[in-house]
Amino acid sequence: MIKNLPLMPDQASSFAAQSDLIYWALTLLTVAFTLIVFAALAFLAIRYRRGSKADRSRPLHGSHLLELGWTFPPLVLGLLMFVWSAKLFSTMYGRAPEGSEQIYVIGKQWMWHLQHMNGIRENNELHIPVGKPVKLTMISQDVIHSFFIPAFRIKRDVVPGVYTSIWFEPTRAGKYHLFCAEYCGTQHSEMGGWIYVEEPAEYQKWLASGGRRTADTQPLATTMEAKGLQLYEQQGCGNCHDADGLSRGPSLAGLFGTTVKLKNGATAVADEAYIRKSILEPNDQIADKYQQRMPSYKGQITEEQILDLMAYIRSIGPRPSASTTATPVSSATSGTRVHTATAGKPNPNLTASNAAPSRGN
Ligand code: CUA
Repeated sequence: MIKNLPLMPDQASSFAAQSDLIYWALTLLTVAFTLIVFAALAFLAIRYRRGSKADRSRPLHGSHLLELGWTFPPLVLGLLMFVWSAKLFSTMYGRAPEGSEQIYVIGKQWMWHLQHMNGIRENNELHIPVGKPVKLTMISQDVIHSFFIPAFRIKRDVVPGVYTSIWFEPTRAGKYHLFCAEYCGTQHSEMGGWIYVEEPAEYQKWLASGGRRTADTQPLATTMEAKGLQLYEQQGCGNCHDADGLSRGPSLAGLFGTTVKLKNGATAVADEAYIRKSILEPNDQIADKYQQRMPSYKGQITEEQILDLMAYIRSIGPRPSASTTATPVSSATSGTRVHTATAGKPNPNLTASNAAPSRGN
């Protein structure tokens, strides 16, 4: 079988088989056309060699049939390959399925730093469950790296200043190579590690143990949300961003994923890129009806901390409307937490066992 050839890495994700099929179809087409061209070449060279007795009395000056024949079949085949591979490409690089496991990746010279929503951090290792889609949101702290897992057939550049993302669904438990696939300095070749795909039960055990063997992890990791909230308080974000947006800055309650009106008349979607930019370059996107008063936090907080803050901001549900302020809305049914009066009040629900539900974008 093809997949047992030592040339090919394991097929361990839902993209692998399809990606290989496209690879082999392209190879087959290339070989077939090469053979056709070279067979014709050899045949004509031998038949019409100098001194041969071939009939040269009716030279051919044009043939529509021949030209159509070598134009349209290759065109159609080429377009089919394009549509086929574009479909797979847009699935891989498109929106991750709802309910994906969220993993944050930070690339730096020369290691991979991986962060689970429940706060577990891993270096050059990633534990994930089999059979569940995983979405990676990635950024670099220095130069361009590239996150490459051959067994999953995924690779995407990790770029400073911009979030990139990719998703995959591991289909087989096992241990798979992780590489950096972009030359990023002297120790580029050492920038790699392992992906551990575990059975769901085993994975839950690993999560509960707080990521055993990881040196920089506390036995019970703090969730990204909780760390974000801590930072939110430390930095005093709530002084300006109160829940009702009546203070100096707009409210952050329920902000994530909404469309924001800007002072210059434009609109922007409050996604990861928008929030990161607002923290580091607050002059660029000023919310409508507010003055620019926010200092830049560039150089003062790390990419890790931005991700933590983002996790907290994502977790703040819509602010209670006038009719519901009296009775606290149960967050169990809506799935989103309700933002309580003053931002920055510790939320007792923020424990490792109920990390923020992903919104799957
Ligand atoms: Cu990082 Cu090569």
